Amino acid sequence: MSKVTVVGAGNVGATVANVLAHQDIAEDIVLLDIQGDLARGKALDSWQQASIDHYSTRIVGTDDYADTKGSDIVIITAGIPRKPGMSRDDLISTNAKIVTSVTESALKYSPDAIIIVVSNPLDVMTYAAFKSSGLPKEKVFGMAGILDTARFRAFLSTEVDVSPKDIQTILLGGHGDTMVPLPRYTTVAGIPVTELVAEERLNEIVERTKKGGGELVQLMGTSAWYAPGAAAAQMASAILRNENRIFPCCVYLEGEYGMNDIFLGVPVQLGRNGIKRIIELKLNDAEMELLKTSAHHVRSVMEVFDNMNLV
Ligand code: NAI
Ligand code: 2OP
Repeated sequence: MSKVTVVGAGNVGATVANVLAHQDIAEDIVLLDIQGDLARGKALDSWQQASIDHYSTRIVGTDDYADTKGSDIVIITAGIPRKPGMSRDDLISTNAKIVTSVTESALKYSPDAIIIVVSNPLDVMTYAAFKSSGLPKEKVFGMAGILDTARFRAFLSTEVDVSPKDIQTILLGGHGDTMVPLPRYTTVAGIPVTELVAEERLNEIVERTKKGGGELVQLMGTSAWYAPGAAAAQMASAILRNENRIFPCCVYLEGEYGMNDIFLGVPVQLGRNGIKRIIELKLNDAEMELLKTSAHHVRSVMEVFDNMNLV
């Protein structure tokens, strides 16, 4: 028996619920939003899709946390998204209050749940959920790296004209323009990408990846949801199936990569109990410097959160 709650029935939350339902691994998905009818409507629409797309996962919508009781995983997508001209960090004052209160409300009914944070600014919202949850670090983490690597993979796929399925990569750092894509750890079906794409062009693709979220905000007037929703669903799926998959996730570091008391994106192994292992790559000096710059930026936003005195 497994139950997943998705808080926030907006663009990303509704997509997470819908994609996860299609995988047919959870018995129940609860979609919760302060706009109760929006959650009820999107859940009903997804449930009516079940006979067409052949899944049994029952999706219900609500604005009452009592309906989320006994969830194995709570995915937090509640909050405001970016508009053109805004950075993810601009969202902090609104979203920090939402994420801390959502975490506390959800844990009242599901004290043993694993929490996956999606709301932005991602690294600091994951820190906020961790601080307000009192849960062990293995059970609170954020989604960003799967999305950011998916963008890198999409751009590389177009460049080399190969299926995105054959592109493997890893990425480190905060979910923002300081993220650290790693060409040295990128292959096309095992072939180092550096043998297939010229350095200058690769650098352009890295830069486009770093600004990948902003590109979509410019195009649509709000932030993306298909790839973000699928990415969060993939994390939930790896947990429910106890798959031991390796993904870049935003996790609490205590000494890894020489960092302490910070949430940052690094490769981890995901299993039934959450983060099973943090994988430390042997970075070269240039990569380590980029990671430190990214950590420095995340820390400055963490300070804004700390000064809000919410937890
Ligand atoms: P949206 O505006 O479509 O949906 C947000 C939903 O949250 C709304 O339906 C709203 O009613 C609900 N909400 C607000 N306060 C709430 C509360 N206290 N309790 C329950 N529900 C509440 O926004 P969208 O596009 O779904 O984005 C959601 C968040 O995810 C944003 O912060 C966005 O920046 C972030 N995001 C993060 C990504 C990542 O890679 N980590 C990728 C894409 C979006
Ligand atoms: C994204 O990267 C805005 O974090 C959101 O699409």
